[in-house]
Amino acid sequence: MAMLLKLGYSVTVEADAGAASSFADAAYVEAGASIGDAAQSWAADIVLGVNAPSRHQLDMLRGGATFIGVLSPNLDPDLVEELASRPITALALDAVPRISRAQSLDVVSSMANIAGYRAVVEAAHAFGRFFTGQVTAAGKVPPAKVLVAGAGVAGLAAIGAAGSMGAIVRATDPRPEVADQVRSLGGEYLAIESPEVEVSATGYAKEMGDDYKRREAELYAAQAADVDIIITTALVPGRPAPRLISAEMVASMKSGSVIVDMAAQNGGNVEGVVPDQSIVTANGVTIIGYTDLAGRLPGQASQLYGTNLVNLLKLMTPAKDGQLVLDLDDAVQRSITVVRDGELMWPAPPVQVSAVRPATGAAAEPVTPHAKRRRSSTRRFTTVGIGTAVFLPLAALSPPALLGHLTVFVLAIVIGYYVIGHVHHALHTPLMSVTNAISGIVAVAAMVQIGHGSAGITALAATAILLASINIFGGFAVTHRMLAMFSRS
Ligand code: NAI
Repeated sequence: MAMLLKLGYSVTVEADAGAASSFADAAYVEAGASIGDAAQSWAADIVLGVNAPSRHQLDMLRGGATFIGVLSPNLDPDLVEELASRPITALALDAVPRISRAQSLDVVSSMANIAGYRAVVEAAHAFGRFFTGQVTAAGKVPPAKVLVAGAGVAGLAAIGAAGSMGAIVRATDPRPEVADQVRSLGGEYLAIESPEVEVSATGYAKEMGDDYKRREAELYAAQAADVDIIITTALVPGRPAPRLISAEMVASMKSGSVIVDMAAQNGGNVEGVVPDQSIVTANGVTIIGYTDLAGRLPGQASQLYGTNLVNLLKLMTPAKDGQLVLDLDDAVQRSITVVRDGELMWPAPPVQVSAVRPATGAAAEPVTPHAKRRRSSTRRFTTVGIGTAVFLPLAALSPPALLGHLTVFVLAIVIGYYVIGHVHHALHTPLMSVTNAISGIVAVAAMVQIGHGSAGITALAATAILLASINIFGGFAVTHRMLAMFSRS
């Protein structure tokens, strides 16, 4: 709320809007908003909603107003038509492209994260046992085994939640690049070996072929008979959810096992799932098909959704003057625009989300390893040549004491270049501590020199202290920020 006010807006909250998420009207008033009835709220210039508006709510919008909410324009063409028939602007927050810059407004991700956690809570609730293993005087309790199918945003959240409750967690995904992410959360990645498996260029999975499907079915059949809980999150954009768990696999599971099918809304990953319901099969397996998992943690869902909305408004209020500016040249804003002033803008042109460079045009020209080697060795020879050309005259002219220092200096540059250049990215933080230590030595050496020699030496020492200090304090600042990302408070 405070952020919206800072952006220059005045805010009216519909009475009892936050009641279901335990946010009282008084809290909004305290934060600077006014409370209005439905008609007053829907008559605003910008209406921030959650779900798609009803026809009655649309009728309350004034001409020229902007509605922002989750509109699922691809799944609901009737709504798109209805929106386009009015002189309004409609922005679908669930159509944010999957690019790093837009991550802070990506509602789909923030809700998938919450839903993944809640799926584990639902499974634990329906499962009649602990997740964690225990050795007690009364006997040994083995840990529950959980299989997570699909390790995207929701799947990773489920792996983290189930692992933290003490379960043994396994996960599958056709995108092999998620293996490390699964392991980093304490899960075991079950690879499906197939020639079709390849690193995804878009971050999303593609529809897999028959060979993969056969091998994946074998793996799921073996796992279903072994694990206690299966949480499925598998989706392929623009396609019905892939069917992963057949009725026979469900029948092979132990009585009391639980399946949570997070893809129930898109057709389901599990045969027999009923959307929005929890059913128990003849062999005692509970299949949960709730489609409102994120909404079952309303406080956090509201909080994250609110943050996504604020981040969008920050993007769209460049002057912080309470004026919403829709910039269609911006890929993010164009992607979410369904209707602009009554003009149908849907579907938006696709945004290249690939982290991998497209294999077209000049960029695609293959660089043979031979050519690469030739280019890099030419560069190396040139650098060594220049270095030698500078070093030799310096060595010839300098006094013997300086020559020793120069040799150490040149060796330090060469060794430092190769050591630091080959440090893996994941180890850059510890590397920073090492460079901090080196900078510390440099700073001390420079302090010893300052003021003892000529003006030139003092100037050099001062520069060395300045640069070393930037390195030291910068290093601490970056490390502090990184640690804050993992801090619990
Ligand atoms: P999603 O909801 O479309 O799919 C869920 C998961 O199902 C994916 O991991 C997919 O690989 C998996 N899947 C598909 N077919 C499967 C099969 N047959 N068996 C098992 N699993 C299957 O994807 P989600 O979770 O929304 O995101 C996918 C990726 O996109 C993330 O891992 C992340 O790398 C990227 N992403 C990027 C964002 C950004 O940069 N703004 C935001 C969110 C996600």
